[in-house]
Amino acid sequence: MKITVIGMGYVGLVTACGLASFGHQVLGVEKNHSKLKKLMQFESPIYEQGLDELLNKAAAEGDIQFTTELNGADGSDLIFITVGTPSTNSGHVDLSQVYTVINQLVHIITKPTILVMKSTVPPGTGEKIIRRFLNKCKTEVNYISNPEFLREGKALLDWFYPDRIVIGGKDNDSIQQVKNIYKKINAPKLVMGITSAEMVKYASNAFLATKISFINEIANICDLLGADIDEVAPAVGMDKRIGSDFLRAGLGYGGSCFPKDTKGLNFISTLHGYNFNLLKAVIEVNFQQRLKAVHKLHTMLGGLAGKKIAVMGLTFKPGTDDVRESPALDILSLLASEGAVVKACDPHGKDNAFKYFSRKIIFCEDAYECAKGVQAVLLNTEWPQFIHLNWSIIKQTMQTPYFVYDGRNALDKKRLSKLGFKYCGVGRPCN
Ligand code: UDX
Repeated sequence: MKITVIGMGYVGLVTACGLASFGHQVLGVEKNHSKLKKLMQFESPIYEQGLDELLNKAAAEGDIQFTTELNGADGSDLIFITVGTPSTNSGHVDLSQVYTVINQLVHIITKPTILVMKSTVPPGTGEKIIRRFLNKCKTEVNYISNPEFLREGKALLDWFYPDRIVIGGKDNDSIQQVKNIYKKINAPKLVMGITSAEMVKYASNAFLATKISFINEIANICDLLGADIDEVAPAVGMDKRIGSDFLRAGLGYGGSCFPKDTKGLNFISTLHGYNFNLLKAVIEVNFQQRLKAVHKLHTMLGGLAGKKIAVMGLTFKPGTDDVRESPALDILSLLASEGAVVKACDPHGKDNAFKYFSRKIIFCEDAYECAKGVQAVLLNTEWPQFIHLNWSIIKQTMQTPYFVYDGRNALDKKRLSKLGFKYCGVGRPCN
């Protein structure tokens, strides 16, 4: 099939490369010239494991091309929309990029096609798009909602081995065609209404975020009562009705999806007169969780002004260079504004984090340099590089009280205690 994918961000590029790997002829459209330059050289502008290889393979087989011109979309059997849908702090989702693209396509398309929405849009958006744009099209354009469930760092795994593929649409032939493009993927293909498909994405992310905030609250109570979340969470997760995934206590969720989608669902609920109390609490708990780390450092160091602190990990999770909504951003900013001398390091996220802070933070090349001379280390991201550090060397270069706040419960508490660190985790009793 001839497929155009519009927007070569993280979801778009994975989608384009994934579709090309099934033998479809894919055209990727990207308006940002510096991104396009890299793509033209078949180089991924984002860090995602395996993506460079997949892109190069598709290019070598002649299955993928890139352009800045939307006109190339005309004549495609399917057009995927994967442009950004950022949200404001209130949760209002900005659909201007989606609307701009569709408005342009309506004038460009001369042959019947299927418009597949992969960008995350609030429930009800698809119906609006059909009414506002597609019904006015000169040729037949059928609309399909096909949300993505790609985790950063594991996006290719999620693309090739998804738990399910959700297809929301009205026209049976279009639904069948979208099913066909995924025929090489062995997963349930769930057909439903457009608004339901849009809701599946929001409900899934809201539920996963709820699990995280829930276990973080339990961890906080463990802290107060002397229980250990490492003993509690696995035992809770063994109940098949609950499941063990997303029960890792820590500094809370970040990234480009959970914060945006939880706030987005809350906003759309409020807009329709519904008070989604549970979701509001999930969002609030997540914010408080990162403040707790600052509070703990304040308590353990007897204040923050003039204290030297190393923050290890800037990305919102390991395996990505993405720092969007990472707890580290709030933590760094709070520590610096309280007068602490803050050093930070990350194997892949340094450049992206640097854009937010300029001179306020000392960015270091590696963890050893980062820990030199500090009184406390905060682990923000559980990169294997940090877990496997030689903590004995770290200890020699640090200053008293040698405090480690393990914001991801990823470090070996016993070993660190033996080495003479003062250690606290999230819901893990301090030594
Ligand atoms: C998420 C969804 O998983 C994916 O399906 C969706 O389409 C996009 O959003 P992603 O943002 O890449 O993917 O990250 P994910 O691996 O789900 O983790 C999100 C955040 O939750 C991270 O900050 C992670 O550290 C945190 N997390 C996750 C926890 O704090 N505890 C857990 O148990 C699991």
